[in-house]
Amino acid sequence: MSVRIVLGAQWGDEGKAKVVDYLTRDADVVVRFQGGANAGHTIVVGDLKFVFHLIPAGIVHPDKTCVVGNGVVLDPKAMFKEVDELEEKGISTEGRLFVSERTHVVMPYHMRLEQASEEKVGDGAIGTTMRGIGPAYYDKMNRVTGIRVLDLINSDVLADRIRVNVREKNEILTKVYGVAPVEEGPMIEEYVAWGERIRPYVTDTSVYLNQAIDEGRGILFEGSQGTLLDIDHGTYPYVTSSNTTAGGACTGSGIGPTRIDEVVGVVKAYTTRVGNGPFPTEIPGELGDRIRNAGGPGHQEFGATTGRPRRCGWLDTVILRLSARINGLSSLAITRLDILDELEEIKVCTHYEVDGETMEHFPTDLGLLDQCVPVYETFPGWLTSTSEARTVEDLPSSARRYIERVVELTRTPVSLISVGADREETIEVT
Ligand code: IMP
Repeated sequence: MSVRIVLGAQWGDEGKAKVVDYLTRDADVVVRFQGGANAGHTIVVGDLKFVFHLIPAGIVHPDKTCVVGNGVVLDPKAMFKEVDELEEKGISTEGRLFVSERTHVVMPYHMRLEQASEEKVGDGAIGTTMRGIGPAYYDKMNRVTGIRVLDLINSDVLADRIRVNVREKNEILTKVYGVAPVEEGPMIEEYVAWGERIRPYVTDTSVYLNQAIDEGRGILFEGSQGTLLDIDHGTYPYVTSSNTTAGGACTGSGIGPTRIDEVVGVVKAYTTRVGNGPFPTEIPGELGDRIRNAGGPGHQEFGATTGRPRRCGWLDTVILRLSARINGLSSLAITRLDILDELEEIKVCTHYEVDGETMEHFPTDLGLLDQCVPVYETFPGWLTSTSEARTVEDLPSSARRYIERVVELTRTPVSLISVGADREETIEVT
């Protein structure tokens, strides 16, 4: 059994949940290692559609164990909403969902601070998901104000930590942002109750995971967001607040890098982005709208967490080369190929040009990125459905050529191709 990381190679929403769901067959334990309820992982099993924000998507398999690692920021309300929804559908989390005692907690004042901050900066806003992610990581790094799950399950410590925070946050909310303060008493009462409810799930997940690996059990790390949203390697400041890249799986779960066997980068066959920030291959106007809506009802390009329309564009291999490098990608899983089925022509960005100079690598300086002109290769569309294809040979030749060119440009092989939302609509490339 292998230890495998599955992560987004673009700006998130690559279809990771479907790939995770597919590869969960080979795993015993599925692990979230970063981010929080900003993620939206949608999977379809038969007639049932599940959207997970916090709990690993592997939970739909009754024989799998799921872990929320220390690198996640956990909103207990969001977690138990999912626990309850799963139970309504007959899926129990008892004894097979574990939360690290080191995981930091997202508190109500984190959402309030984020909203106030995004409103105050106006045009310069990041366009966040408003799930309190940035402020929760801020408190984690700040150390003085962070609240861990370990504190959440100790009512005395918790009450004390909430008092310290509320005093500080109310100063900021009222004096810096000029908005209403938060109330301490009801918050203590509510979070003590969350602490009681979460207690049976809490453990040292680093010990648990390392033992599982020692016993030869398969581990699947489920990345959220995407490489270009990584706090260090993404399009800073238009990024999320965690390491979405492969290194984050180690620091966010407490396992060493020598234990990882494989890193799968999930790549949408085109590119999308939600929120603000640069997007060199974005297609404005009618064609972008056509791609956004091509999936049909329930599968259009709208954020699973916020419902915001996703910006759509051509596949950009400059960002994929960055992803391959930062993550040490073993292979690509290409998703939503079927969305391109009806396009007359399809473009792939091979590199950028600035003042006639070729740029092979994604620049750090967003000012320079702004001057980059994407250079494309154009492929004839295949104008036929790919959804029934189950082997590479079943794909139309122009779709095969498209994929072969992506492999050449990224210098990374393809291991999976997804041609529809259903589990069955998947091609394993051998
Ligand atoms: P935050 O993670 O809510 O702080 O948002 C920071 C940026 O990451 C914004 O541009 C969000 O739209 C983007 N983002 C956060 N989570 C996701 C996700 O799961 N998919 C795609 N974009 C995301």
